[in-house]
Amino acid sequence: MIIIKKDVLPSTNDFIKEHYESLDNYTIVRANYQTNGKGRLSRTWEALENNNILMSILVKEFNNRTDIHKLSIVTSMSVHKFLSKYLKNLYIKWPNDILVDNKKICGILLEGKINNNTQMVVIGIGININQLTFSDEIASLTTSLRKELNIEFDIDLLTEELVNILINDINEFLNGSDYFIDYVKTNLFGINQKIEYTRNNNLYEGIILDIDDEGRLIINENNQILYINSGEIKIKR
Ligand code: BTN
Repeated sequence: MIIIKKDVLPSTNDFIKEHYESLDNYTIVRANYQTNGKGRLSRTWEALENNNILMSILVKEFNNRTDIHKLSIVTSMSVHKFLSKYLKNLYIKWPNDILVDNKKICGILLEGKINNNTQMVVIGIGININQLTFSDEIASLTTSLRKELNIEFDIDLLTEELVNILINDINEFLNGSDYFIDYVKTNLFGINQKIEYTRNNNLYEGIILDIDDEGRLIINENNQILYINSGEIKIKR
């Protein structure tokens, strides 16, 4: 496995998207800092220099578009497994945030690039490791390993641990394993809780029931069972 480590990049996802043709399958790109770190839904990803895991992995020749969603759920499982060595009360908030109780510690952003005959997916992972303070907008909803445990961690060592789990899980998934579904079911955030979510630009309420074999969220909206495959949910308090 090849790891490219840079001090500063605009975004590790963008670096791979720009250079993927010359990179090997499963190339990892890491940065100590991103000047344009990207989150889901066109948000920015906030991370202080030298404090966190900021990495992307290239999955080449990924030729099933519909499986991109499953791959993102597999990644959630891998990060959850990796963090379980250090933390309890870890949940997977569908589709792919990792929470400690109800605070976010990791975000995952998958991006695909489909050309005439080459297809690829970049999986970007940001995990808060040693960062202790966050901007006001996210401070009450965000945590890090160090905030939880009061220990400073070696980011290089942790990245190696994560990458080993991740590559193993991706390989198993590409070889047909679907045990990630059960894993995510067992660790899903908000089961039986009331949520708000956006569908066709409207805000709806429902109750989380489960996820199905495709990794879609199953919710009960006014006694109608719905299967959601993208978007964002918010627990109603
Ligand atoms: C989210 O929760 O909104 C997803 C955040 C993903 C952040 C990571 S950090 C490494 C990689 N490079 C990026 O620009 N984004 C992802």
